[in-house]
Amino acid sequence: MTTDTDQLARARRAVRQQAQTSALLGVDFVPCFRTGEGIVAVEAPAAPRPAPAEPGRADAERAMGALRARYEADAPHEKFATPHRYNKLVWGDGDICARLMFIGEAPGADEDATGIPFVGRAGQLLDKMIAAMGLRREEVYIANVLKTRPPNNATPTVEEAALCAPYLHEQIAVVAPEIIVTLGLPASRLILGSTESMGQMRGRWAEYTGPGLGAPRIPVMPTYHPAFLLRSYTPENRKKVWSDLQMVMTRLAGA
Ligand code: URA
Repeated sequence: MTTDTDQLARARRAVRQQAQTSALLGVDFVPCFRTGEGIVAVEAPAAPRPAPAEPGRADAERAMGALRARYEADAPHEKFATPHRYNKLVWGDGDICARLMFIGEAPGADEDATGIPFVGRAGQLLDKMIAAMGLRREEVYIANVLKTRPPNNATPTVEEAALCAPYLHEQIAVVAPEIIVTLGLPASRLILGSTESMGQMRGRWAEYTGPGLGAPRIPVMPTYHPAFLLRSYTPENRKKVWSDLQMVMTRLAGA
C-alpha cells in the first residue's frame, strides 16, 4: 500500500530530478501521470536490468572482443574513398549488457585522442542527457556508425556507413539492448534503412531489424544529435529531445 510519506518522498525525488533536468536541457515542465489518488510525478526509470549472471556477461565480453579483433583485421575504413588518418580506433563504451544503447555517427578529435566515444562537447551533453534520464553512462552502451575519425569531422558518407554497418549490426547483437536511441541522421538512417529527415523520424518509435533471418526486433527512438543541439540550442529543440528521451524512459520503466 502506498502511504502519504512514500508519495511525498517520490514527489520530492522527482522534483529534484526534474530541477536538474531543467537546468541541463532547458525544459520547463514536470513529467507526471494521473492515478486514482491524483497526479503523481514520474520518477527515474526502474533500476537497470540486473547484471546478467555469468557466463552471460563473459560470453558477451568474449564476443565483443572477437568482433573488435575482426574489425581491426578487416579494417573496413581502409576501403574508404577518403582515407581516415586516425590515432585511436573508437569502438564503444559502457555496459555491453546494457538495456539502452546510443548510436552516434563518428568520432571527433577528442574521441580520436582517447579512443572513447562521446567525450568531447557533444559527449558532455550526451552525459547530461543520460543523467537526466536517471541513468549513469556506465549503465548504457555507446557506439558509433564509424569507428575512425573522418577528416575535417566530415559527415560519414553512405558508402563509409555501409562498409562499417556489418560490424555495428554485430555490436548491437552482442549488446542486445531493449531500446536503441539513434543520434542524428547518419545513425538513424542506417539503423532504420530510412531516407527520411530527422524532423520526420524523431519523436516516433521505429523498429530495428538486424540482418539475417530471426534477427531480433528492437524499438528505436531517433533523436537529434547532441552536436546539433549544441549548434541550435533553442528551447524548442531541447524540448523535442527531452520529449524523445522521456518516451524512452517510459518504455524502459515498462509502462
Ligand atoms: N559525435 C559522434 O557522433 N560520436 C562521437 O563519438 C563523438 C561525437
